[in-house]
Amino acid sequence: MEKFVINGGIPLRGTVNISGAKNAAVALVAATILCDEPCILENVPEISDITKCLKILRDMGADIQLKDRNTVYFDTRSITEPKVPEELARTMRASSYFLGTLLGRFHEAYVPMPGGCNLGDRPIDQHLKAFNALGAKDEIINGSNHVWADSLIGNQIYFDFVTVGATMNAIFAAVKAKGMTVIENAAKEPHIVDLANFLNSMGADIRGAGTDVIKIRGVEYLKGVTYATIPDQIEAGTYMVAAAATKGDVTIANVIPKHLESITVKLRKCGVHVEENDESVHVWVDGPLMKTSLKTMPHPGFPTDMQPQFSTLLTMAEGTSIVTDDIFDNRFRYVAELRRMGADISVDGKVAVIQGVGQLKGAPVSATDLRAGAAMVIAGLAAQGTTEIDNIFYIERGYENIDEKLRGLGADIKRVIKPDVEAVKLSG
Ligand code: EPZ
Repeated sequence: MEKFVINGGIPLRGTVNISGAKNAAVALVAATILCDEPCILENVPEISDITKCLKILRDMGADIQLKDRNTVYFDTRSITEPKVPEELARTMRASSYFLGTLLGRFHEAYVPMPGGCNLGDRPIDQHLKAFNALGAKDEIINGSNHVWADSLIGNQIYFDFVTVGATMNAIFAAVKAKGMTVIENAAKEPHIVDLANFLNSMGADIRGAGTDVIKIRGVEYLKGVTYATIPDQIEAGTYMVAAAATKGDVTIANVIPKHLESITVKLRKCGVHVEENDESVHVWVDGPLMKTSLKTMPHPGFPTDMQPQFSTLLTMAEGTSIVTDDIFDNRFRYVAELRRMGADISVDGKVAVIQGVGQLKGAPVSATDLRAGAAMVIAGLAAQGTTEIDNIFYIERGYENIDEKLRGLGADIKRVIKPDVEAVKLSG
């Protein structure tokens, strides 16, 4: 097992380049199943969730070639069975996207129940509601979701609440269905728009992505294309917060500033300077960090995937901040780890009350999920002293070369092989 060892208190300075968006790329990779010709994806982040998705496609018989670290060639025409292998699918939420893409192509899909970050119960009832609306039936068999349809007919789909995954899966199932599908109460995240742009470049007919009504007229054929994934708004936001937490001066390059607006607004409220350029944002601090209140919302609101990182910043701000995150059942598991570093946070259900303590102190901590792990890195960078973070496999799910990128900004962070406690005991 590996861990990060960080000697904190060093202001980050310089420029960091943002990679392709994880939550767009996992959808685009799944969408290649719908393509009737080979296609190429560029700016694909080199992260473990993507590696797993590529292995799933390979194990299903697709021809997948890495043209370089971030460019992938796909030919999925050789997939014949609409079944996803068990072991990898259970380790991430994105495997649910194979339900919609295999259903859209084969009119059938068997996918192990999805896994993903432990943020509480994460059912897929709205995904199944979308499939049912198009004429598919569903059952659970041997721990897998099984969906099937004689044919897929366009229809109206109205989601009970905003859900990114179900919106993605509704698009996958509808893009080759017969006739018109109208998705209402759709998610509006940038990765939804990226998926629609990718499919439309192949010849799909999807309108309204990025709004809460998406209209899809089914087509018969999707041609091969070369397409580049959008930059990752959450990776970018994470580095913006890291710059602020270390009172540094950082340019975050290769971003779409509009995707970062809710994060920019909140950072400015805390007294952080954010200058927006065409494809970069410049973040610096020249005064005290101030408290603020925060409520996570679906896009364009403040993203839940930035809540742990921003809450960590607020532990160092003057005054009392209130953070509400009711997107998931429990996205505050990281708070116990921050308390080990001297943070003063109390959590009641989906609300955290944060008393600014000014300075955190280094300590051994654990990553409890992907974005919680990123929060631990930010805390370690800002803290006085040394912080050791284990379970960094969570962080590697969504951040490409995070330690290398941080060293490029002057951070003292090392990746260390953690001796297996058992092995040490056995060796006496
Ligand atoms: C996606 O998860 C992201 N994952 C999450 O990012 C992100 O936090 C989330 O969207 C919200 O933006 C990927 O894109 C791979 P939802 P998803 O469907 O699709 C409930 C990260 O850190 N719900 O919008 O699972 C659900 O339990 C990850 O990158 C149902 O009840 O999110 C949650 O409480 C973490 N039934 C809420 O809705 C359903 O059928 C929002 O879920 C679907 C969802």
